[in-house]
Amino acid sequence: TAQKPLAGRHVLVTSGPTHEPIDPVRYLANRSSGRQGHAVAAAAVEAGARVTLVSGPVAIPDPPGVTVVRVESAREMLAAVEAALPADLAIFAAAVGDWRPAEMRPGKIKKDGSLPAPLQLVENPDILATIAGRSTGRPPLVVGFAAETDAVLDNARKKIARKGCDLIVANDVSAEGGVMGGTENSVHLVSRDGGVETWPKLGKEEVGRRLVARFADLLAQRSS
Ligand code: C5P
Repeated sequence: TAQKPLAGRHVLVTSGPTHEPIDPVRYLANRSSGRQGHAVAAAAVEAGARVTLVSGPVAIPDPPGVTVVRVESAREMLAAVEAALPADLAIFAAAVGDWRPAEMRPGKIKKDGSLPAPLQLVENPDILATIAGRSTGRPPLVVGFAAETDAVLDNARKKIARKGCDLIVANDVSAEGGVMGGTENSVHLVSRDGGVETWPKLGKEEVGRRLVARFADLLAQRSS
């Protein structure tokens, strides 16, 4: 039988949203379902990899054959990603919250007839940029996602440079497309040299399989 393309490789995937606590019952989040990231993890298993999936809170099942590490906040996600290294391939598909409340209130904020104090926000760590920028232990292939509502390709190119990753999978999440939370995705693959490949609209499972096949090719080229 033919060797599977990712046999012997460790693949790390982040997926889903993050929840950034405001108080014990409230949080800041985003509309990520985790479908695309989970589909990438499932496809990597099919391709023969050992897969660690670091997932924010999602309502979809764990992909079979994957080691799932569940987290809530961006800071927990970064810690779990660092604990899961080394990896041959890291795919950052999570929709990480950009900001979190500066402090979590220890008790539930009461509705007492006046408005609560305005939320003070601070920036979350950028997990993709942190891992892509490591001087030691950087996975040989680091892939980011870019969910954009406008100037998709322009923003993806800037993002590659800013984050130091090798490839960006860019998609248009403007409300008309129904991508966020939906079952289909149409993506552009943007590489470091600025090259772009645009794929037709496909189911997220099929996008996952095609992405994994592409990443396996790139990894094989690099290590040959
Ligand atoms: O900057 P932006 O959020 O658009 O970048 C998206 C890419 O960066 C995704 O791959 C996402 O998983 C990753 N990211 C991250 N940590 C953050 C913000 C984004 O890993 N704090």
